[in-house]
Amino acid sequence: MKALVLAGGAGTRLRPITHTSAKQLLPVANKPVLFYGLEAIRDAGITDVGLVVGDTAAAIRAAVGDGSSFGLDASYVRQEAPLGLAHAVLVARDFLGDDDFVMYLGDNFIVGGIAQLVEEFRTTRPDAQILLTRVPDPTEFGVAELNDAGQVVGLEEKPQQPKSDLALVGVYMFTSAVHEAVQHLKPSGRGELEITEAIQWLIDNGRKVTSTTISGYWKDTGNVADMLEVNRMVLETVEPRQGGMVDAGCDLIGRVVIEDGAQVSGSRIVGPVIIGAGSRVTDSYVGPFTSVAPDCVIADSEIEYSIVLRGASIRGVRRIEASFIGHDVQVTPAPRVPKAHRLILGDHSRVQISS
Ligand code: TTP
Repeated sequence: MKALVLAGGAGTRLRPITHTSAKQLLPVANKPVLFYGLEAIRDAGITDVGLVVGDTAAAIRAAVGDGSSFGLDASYVRQEAPLGLAHAVLVARDFLGDDDFVMYLGDNFIVGGIAQLVEEFRTTRPDAQILLTRVPDPTEFGVAELNDAGQVVGLEEKPQQPKSDLALVGVYMFTSAVHEAVQHLKPSGRGELEITEAIQWLIDNGRKVTSTTISGYWKDTGNVADMLEVNRMVLETVEPRQGGMVDAGCDLIGRVVIEDGAQVSGSRIVGPVIIGAGSRVTDSYVGPFTSVAPDCVIADSEIEYSIVLRGASIRGVRRIEASFIGHDVQVTPAPRVPKAHRLILGDHSRVQISS
């Protein structure tokens, strides 16, 4: 069995961060979200992984390489444009051959991994097995309709009138039957080849499609609120560790990871928090659910429930909350003119100002 990991896409919901970064490489507790998925695939006993890549191919390749550091054998499939999840299956035909495969969305996060699901699929071998979870607002998702026996009888992409509250989660398992299905698809209203339509085609053509409803935690990290939430959840499970230097004027409370080479002085850190290698935190407060990547500076500032990417510096600012701060960003107070905001913001930035 192989794995097809979707690591292309446009990432419009995470702009402006995704203007310069692949969304699958954005860190959760200082580790790219994609790596959690690759580890889950390896733990399910799959080694042959194809990564579907788009504009950010170089960054994904640089991060994953030949896959050996994960215990995987990674290859790459170029998708010239993000034309849909089913399009990704279409372009990966040569890599997939006639093997069974699990398709994993590279920005999705599933607690507990996929080993059990893959095992179930291997034993029962339906033509498609999908994963479902109950959501409060199904209109945002692909939605499944089940019959009384629990079989999937219909699927709809982002329906206005959902037939259930069961949304498709970003892991799908297929036999080679899916290749015939994707060949029959036409672009949808949003111009994509929809995987929901491919699965619907399998159902309409008498193929067996089964589902598993998961009650555990799943998140698509496609927007900032979800990234922060996944970061919160992962940080709750990290083992406290003090690799870097912490001076006597500091207060460290709860689950705090200070990575090697980080320096913390005169600060109060209330976990769960991770401070990356080479970062310096001075005379500051870092509150719960904050991940600070390597090589950042936080000086005379307060921050909590946030993700700070590599090389960013925050000086003399209180208080930052629920924020996502990009690579090499500088946040400082406005000099002298207290009533004015001076902003240099990239395209699609979003800023909330409290005055
Ligand atoms: P989505 O989050 O559905 O799409 P997107 O990346 O275009 O994001 P946005 O809606 O914010 O513009 O994609 C789910 C995953 O699949 C994600 O890791 C990107 C990947 N993907 C591809 O590799 N190829 C594609 O054609 C599409 C649509 C997504």
